[in-house]
Amino acid sequence: MNLYYYHVADDVLETDSDIAVVIDVLRASTTISWALKNGADSIQFFSDLDLLKETAERWDANKKLMLGERGGKKINGFDLGNSPLSVTKEKVQGKRLFMSTTNGTKSLKKVQNVKYLFAMALPNRKAVAERIMSLNKKNVLILGSGWEGSYSLEDSLAAGALASYIKYNFNNEVNISNDELQASLALWNTWKNDILGCLKTATHGKRLTSLGDYDDDLKCCSELDCLDIVPTQFERGVIRAS
Ligand code: MLT
Repeated sequence: MNLYYYHVADDVLETDSDIAVVIDVLRASTTISWALKNGADSIQFFSDLDLLKETAERWDANKKLMLGERGGKKINGFDLGNSPLSVTKEKVQGKRLFMSTTNGTKSLKKVQNVKYLFAMALPNRKAVAERIMSLNKKNVLILGSGWEGSYSLEDSLAAGALASYIKYNFNNEVNISNDELQASLALWNTWKNDILGCLKTATHGKRLTSLGDYDDDLKCCSELDCLDIVPTQFERGVIRAS
């Protein structure tokens, strides 16, 4: 199995991968994972806000929520921002979430034509890794979200965490196929005993901290292997639990 990692959507020119894993530790993929764990029916992701509103408009008002952020802040008129703590069972159960975030949903859109598309955060790292191993495909693309086209520490940390798990637990051969992923493995080995410290050091961790009380969000996003949810694209642009 060949594992590749790219920091941001714009780095992916084309892909012949069978599997794509999108990571946005702070916070879109963590929020997606928790929303599905708490019983959300599905998450439909958008980069274009007008299209999101137009599509959401056609849904039963009791069965939908609009969720998202720009620059880390909740979008005006939306039901929820992008906090994994806000997607409680009471709020999301049985609902479709129409979601748009600054970077995470852009990465999802970039690889939405791949056969198997998963969203991964640190809480469901093991669950996603086990799914990838069970599929046993040749090429796996891991895609971070970064921040407006630039590198992010926390997504690379999670890419390293994923690669590390697969490398040590998959019985077949695993190739760490680009330097970005080698660097992510080194990053993981440096910070694996202080994940929260890494998130607080990251630029986006600091950005969130500067916006207000985001300590609990950072803690939630730093938890490892506590969710058994594999957010999976079932139809183009729509993710469900599996
Ligand atoms: C993103 O998509 O850039 C993030 O999820 C931003 C955030 O922390 O809300």
